[in-house]
Amino acid sequence: MACFFRRRIAAKLGRALQQSEDVFIPALAAVPVLKRQEGPDFRLFTGTLRASGILPSSGDVQVQTENLATQLKRDNVVEHVSTGRGVINFKVNRNLLAQVCELFILHCHIDRVNMFVCCSSPNIAKKFHAGHLRSTVIGNFIANLKQSLGNNVIRMNYLGDWGMQFGLLGAGFGQFGCPDKLKQNPLQHLFEVYVRVNKEAEHDEDMKQAARDFFRQLEQHESHAVSLWQQFRDITVKEYQHIYKRLGVHFDVYSGESFHQDQAQEVVQQLQSRGLLKTSEKGTGVVDLSPSRDMSNVCTLLRSDGTTLYITRDIAAAINRREKYSFDEMIYVTDKSQENHFSQLFQILLAMGHSWADRCRHVSFGLVQGMKTRAGEVVFLEDVLDEARARMLHNMSQSNTTKELENPEDTAEKVGISALIIQDFKGPLQSDYKFDWDRMLQAQGDTGVFLQYTHARLCSLKLRNKGVEAAAFDPALLSEQTSIAILQHLLRYDEVLYQSSQDLQPKSFCSHRELPVKGSAEAVAQARLRLFNGARSVLANGMRILGITPVNKM
Ligand code: ARG
Repeated sequence: MACFFRRRIAAKLGRALQQSEDVFIPALAAVPVLKRQEGPDFRLFTGTLRASGILPSSGDVQVQTENLATQLKRDNVVEHVSTGRGVINFKVNRNLLAQVCELFILHCHIDRVNMFVCCSSPNIAKKFHAGHLRSTVIGNFIANLKQSLGNNVIRMNYLGDWGMQFGLLGAGFGQFGCPDKLKQNPLQHLFEVYVRVNKEAEHDEDMKQAARDFFRQLEQHESHAVSLWQQFRDITVKEYQHIYKRLGVHFDVYSGESFHQDQAQEVVQQLQSRGLLKTSEKGTGVVDLSPSRDMSNVCTLLRSDGTTLYITRDIAAAINRREKYSFDEMIYVTDKSQENHFSQLFQILLAMGHSWADRCRHVSFGLVQGMKTRAGEVVFLEDVLDEARARMLHNMSQSNTTKELENPEDTAEKVGISALIIQDFKGPLQSDYKFDWDRMLQAQGDTGVFLQYTHARLCSLKLRNKGVEAAAFDPALLSEQTSIAILQHLLRYDEVLYQSSQDLQPKSFCSHRELPVKGSAEAVAQARLRLFNGARSVLANGMRILGITPVNKM
């Protein structure tokens, strides 16, 4: 809906300066909602117009600002135009604001494309570390956001299900594995075997050889090796699906490195025939990415024994996805240690003539320090989720505002997970942060707990005033400062959607969430109730996009 106002203001500017309205859309910024007084809604910086050549960059800025402002007549959409130092402020019509919010047109779809989001992507038999958790929740947010803007989104989990670790695991399982344990506690058991065989292989040449043999058998599709591998993979995916369900995350496709090992060899051949593959001194196959082609920056795609690597499989996978899903944009979500990997991936795809690689993007994020549970260092994600639930349940039992709940465990689970997510989304994604149970579970401040609490309060307000709602809606009743501020916040909502869909940062979403809701139930007029309900639905909508399941009671 902000798009509606934005367009109208841009059109006004376009008429005044005889330009297409489109050039003014990005130059209009939404003004943050003021706490104590009613402020304007949009702001235009004269400097931006000068920088983009719309206004001459010579001449006095303030004179230009005033001149332009006098050309902008008020109308039934823009109620007031004022100027400041180098800015023009626009205040939109209050009745219209209420009406537009009430209609709540979230139909200003910005783009409508096929999006491909590749995230989570843990490695079988290895730790599911904090980075995988971040990738999961960030990828889920991006996918939800893009979907809510009307795009078609495919969510893929690209498992680390191939490579030398399976040689070790296969060989190790023969010695230390136990089929019963594998059934009972698969992730734990596979991890134990993996740790043990790694240790063993450090000093035992036979073990190393056995691992190499097993991996070779796997690469040659020998049935006993493949069936053991398949068993490991199936069991792991099943376990993960259970955990993703707790997190409220789903994937349309479970793929993995294993799917692309044959295609990876084809990629190598294509590079060879295009003359892009060089042989290094060590006998490995490399692509020279240095600008002056002096081999000062190379990317290795082939080991000297002819086997492919992580990046080779990623090249094959990207080409395969493009053929299969014809996506318009693809987003990869991993921690920042893989920035170089993705930059090389995109460069190689471009060199191979795949111009769509320009529309691939790596969203990277910082590291999480100190993610520990009571039992110590985190190995399995499930332990983190269990602890979040347990701590939340404890906090709820201590609080005197906690309501009688049908299923306190379930509420604690949802609130605990929202605390995890909000802690993760609070800062810029690129920043590292310190994991802190106490801070994350605080009931006040910028936390998931507070967010859920706000939503639950709005739900109970609605419940207590059942029936009042059906009445007619008179926007003129929403004229006092508090109501206007709420309306302005609602107006900013799709502004936030727009902003986040550009920079793919959940941060602005999290800070937007605080809707100042005041007023006791008795004093609430029908219109205000409607407003509160609008606020609740926007809040719930935003929470769902962040990947949080709103609770109605807590
Ligand atoms: N499995 C990888 C890891 O844990 C992440 C995969 C990211 N996705 C990709 N297409 N390379 O580091």
